[in-house]
Amino acid sequence: MYSFTKVPILWKLNDPFKTTIMIPTTHPKTINELPSPKGHFLLGHATQFKASEKHLVLERWIKECGELFKINFLGTVFIVSASTTFNQQVLKLRPTTFRRLSKMDEILSELGITGVFNAENDAWKRQRKVTSEALNLQKIKGFYPIIITKTKKVLQKYREYAQNGQVMAVQKEAMKFTIDITTAIAFGYELDTINNKEDEFQKHLEIIFPMISTRITAPIPLWRYLKQKKDKQLDTAIIYIETVIHQFIADAKRKIQDTPELKENPSNFLEALLADKEGSNFSDKEIYGNIFTMLLAGEDTTANSISWALFYLAQHPEMVTTIRKEAIAIYEGEVPETPQAVSQLHYTHAVAQEAIRMKSTAPQLYVEANEDVTIEGLYIPKGTKMMIQTRHAQLQEKHFTNAEHFIPERWIKGGCPMHANHTPSAIKAFGAGPRFCPGMNLAIQEIVILVSALCKQFDIALNVSPEEVEEQFAFTMYPKNLMIQLKEVEE
Ligand code: HEM
Repeated sequence: MYSFTKVPILWKLNDPFKTTIMIPTTHPKTINELPSPKGHFLLGHATQFKASEKHLVLERWIKECGELFKINFLGTVFIVSASTTFNQQVLKLRPTTFRRLSKMDEILSELGITGVFNAENDAWKRQRKVTSEALNLQKIKGFYPIIITKTKKVLQKYREYAQNGQVMAVQKEAMKFTIDITTAIAFGYELDTINNKEDEFQKHLEIIFPMISTRITAPIPLWRYLKQKKDKQLDTAIIYIETVIHQFIADAKRKIQDTPELKENPSNFLEALLADKEGSNFSDKEIYGNIFTMLLAGEDTTANSISWALFYLAQHPEMVTTIRKEAIAIYEGEVPETPQAVSQLHYTHAVAQEAIRMKSTAPQLYVEANEDVTIEGLYIPKGTKMMIQTRHAQLQEKHFTNAEHFIPERWIKGGCPMHANHTPSAIKAFGAGPRFCPGMNLAIQEIVILVSALCKQFDIALNVSPEEVEEQFAFTMYPKNLMIQLKEVEE
């Protein structure tokens, strides 16, 4: 039976939000008609959704129910989609038809954090424009000295590991690298966690990040009724971080006034925000919110991607040799110091891309419908919560030949026997649509510079069996138990 339904034109790229058209369609399916994995009659699927394995549980359910299904957490229903076309449409229809899960903003705003990640509507549009400008390729070139200095520092640390024959906990060390880079790039704060120097700022941040993750997934906001010790510690940590960042904002404003050249060549994200015509109108609260967001969004994701790349490289010495040869051919010294040199490291880029394809550190995104909408014949009422599972598509044979295998060559034009199935558009590891990750270029530069420099100087061996390295989810997905040994290569 045909009826007429009012739906947005999803294929019109320029203006997919406002235009509507009457098209004939069969009655849309309702959420109730979707399949569902087996769950508890009262608790639904909540008890199966183990926090540290969320992405794996979702992938198990996809095998059981297909690419579109529903789950139920104590009465709250979520649609789960792993369908490439469905996901693309949902992600593209933000911020109008869909928004990030409102709980994310609730938790972050409650802590005084109002940045581009949790902003919506006009506030998001303003912040998005300025923050993406401040992270564009041109601006990132100005951040290079920071990345290079920190990379040299971390290589010295790796040398000590190699010389002492010490086993290295990869994810922990990669985190130190991205923490030092991100705080310096975000607002010029110099840390030395690479050399284990303790710092109050970092100590407080380490209290905040896991608490945000816990609160976002907490079924009941107990802290609003009774504050436990950890909630009080969180409040203290937030006050400390806020005070330090506001101090830096005041200093940077003065610096920009005294040194107008900084407007053309900002040396960090904070200066880039203040140098921007629209950014200079941001309130201090918005600037603080976006600096905090950068720390939250940029540290774990990048460190975990580096770690997963090293997980594969430690099992493929021939790839380490290829990266080394490429490095020797392109730059002298221990680090690729210029953006031009980095852009020529094609094989290393391919390794980074392949690691991100297989081990997305953000394998699912959470959204909520702002209005009633029908997508691919499914009627989604306003307020519906959804999990957009992105990794499934990246591991499908129909999208990538030998999808379960780590083959960097598939990303190199003409160099790959695996190009039979090759669908880069299936990669959503950095999200998609208007809210696509604005830090992608920065992240890729950090990963490529470190991986290239590391492989130029060291051989890498896995110190555990590959099966012992587990995927763990804690806000982002990281490798648990990843231990390697480094050996300096002879000149
Ligand atoms: C390998 C590293 C990274 C990965 C895998 C990653 C992944 C993602 C993903 C999946 C999203 C959600 C996109 C969406 O909703 O469509 C996101 C958003 C975001 N990321 Fe990244 N990210 C990485 C690094 C970074 C870095 C280094 C920064 C900043 C310096 C950053 C800043 C942001 C911000 C601000 C957003 C929110 C954008 C918005 O809502 O408009 N990310 N990222």
